[in-house]
Amino acid sequence: MAEPFRIALAGVGTVGGGVAHQLLTRGDELAHRAGRPLKLIAVSTREVDKPRRTDLAGIPWQANCVDLASTDAHIIVELIGGEDGPALDLIEAALEARKPVVTANKALLAAHGLRLATTAESAGIPLRFEAAAAGGIPIVKALRESLITYPIECVRGILNGTCNYILTEMEATGSPFAEVLRDAQAHGYAEADPALDVGGGDTAHKLAILSALAFGVAPGTRSMRVSGITAIEQEDISFAREFGYRIKLLGVARRNGQQLDQRVGPAMVKIATPLADVDGVFNAVVVHVASAGPFIFEGRGAGEEPTTSAVIADIVDIARGANGPAFGRPARDLEPVVSAPGDACRSPFYVRFALLDAPGALAEIAGHLAHAGVSIDSMIQRPQSTADAVVIVMITHECSQTAIEAAIKAISASDKVVGIPCLIPMETI
Ligand code: NDP
Ligand code: HSE
Repeated sequence: MAEPFRIALAGVGTVGGGVAHQLLTRGDELAHRAGRPLKLIAVSTREVDKPRRTDLAGIPWQANCVDLASTDAHIIVELIGGEDGPALDLIEAALEARKPVVTANKALLAAHGLRLATTAESAGIPLRFEAAAAGGIPIVKALRESLITYPIECVRGILNGTCNYILTEMEATGSPFAEVLRDAQAHGYAEADPALDVGGGDTAHKLAILSALAFGVAPGTRSMRVSGITAIEQEDISFAREFGYRIKLLGVARRNGQQLDQRVGPAMVKIATPLADVDGVFNAVVVHVASAGPFIFEGRGAGEEPTTSAVIADIVDIARGANGPAFGRPARDLEPVVSAPGDACRSPFYVRFALLDAPGALAEIAGHLAHAGVSIDSMIQRPQSTADAVVIVMITHECSQTAIEAAIKAISASDKVVGIPCLIPMETI
């Protein structure tokens, strides 16, 4: 039998716990896949005595995770999390020691991916991160190795299991946002800081990784428009249904000539189109490829098992000798993102706001829209249960992001409008 492939693992929480469990209980089956036994030779966690599902008693423990890089492990698996701090220190030390790295840490890759990929390539070793985008869906490998012949036009998807779970449960049960978020945390879907999930940051991190793979740009979030789902109310979900749509948090990267439009935010997705029926913790990615696509990938996007599945796949690939640039092209060829301006980003929009029930109020709003060049396609007016206001929902004709934002700015400033308007783009593909 070939020499065992020695693995050092940092972090034994939701994901690391699953990885340790698989390595310790299914070693023989995985050895057939890897061509050699997979051996967990060291772990690092924050607390040594914490009760764990898998007994790690026989595995040497390192108090300082960075020390894993100086063990005789063939590979370092980082499943701690966090953009900086111990996770980054460990990965840097591992690459310095010329040890391949597997990580699920999208926050870290979105911030430091270019530099780490450059270091890994100079050292001639692999840096792999299948679990960092869309959980168990093998989208990283697909973009890195399979969808390489024709230019990719657009990548869009539901990339955050926590948000998709929240939106699905709010719609299905009418439960309030905070209660459903607590469920998602209990299932192990949410980030240590769930504001990253519900604020859109986690989707942005994943979109940065997918954009690098699909479009050959340096990973990063700076040029993205990012919003989350915290402003979505039950009535938006009901209105969406009335118009034949569902609300999904999407990450979208679309090529526009030499420019790239990258955005994260809630979107109205037409019922019976691929992304509309993706529910619960499931993620989905649609890759539009000139001449060849679209390709649709769907599967569980968060939680122990799907993420473990992706991490183990990376470990097995590396055990068999897989190598090559982290983002599919040499890191030196990844280009800075040139953002598409708001004028170039066009769609119809859903707009909801509360308006004083007074003469001329609606005429004033119509005036703001007309002034910005935004035309109304359809409109609903409903009485509000409180005060002397009405709820207005409008669907606009296609217009630019710049135009609708100018109109919303003027509408928000009106003394006839109560509270903050809700603006959601309608997906047209
Ligand atoms: P958890 O919070 O469940 O686990 C984190 C683990 O890291 C714990 O075992 C913790 O130790 C350990 N840890 C924390 N600080 C240190 C340190 N300084 N040194 C060594 N170990 C440390 O996180 P998850 O498993 O959910 O997430 C891990 C990574 O996977 C993150 O990057 C996350 O974004 C990513 N990810 C998570 C998914 C999910 O569904 N949960 C899906 C896809 C990616 P202790 O147990 O002692 O507290
Ligand atoms: N918090 C993330 C999510 C974990 O909910 O999708 C998977 O990356």
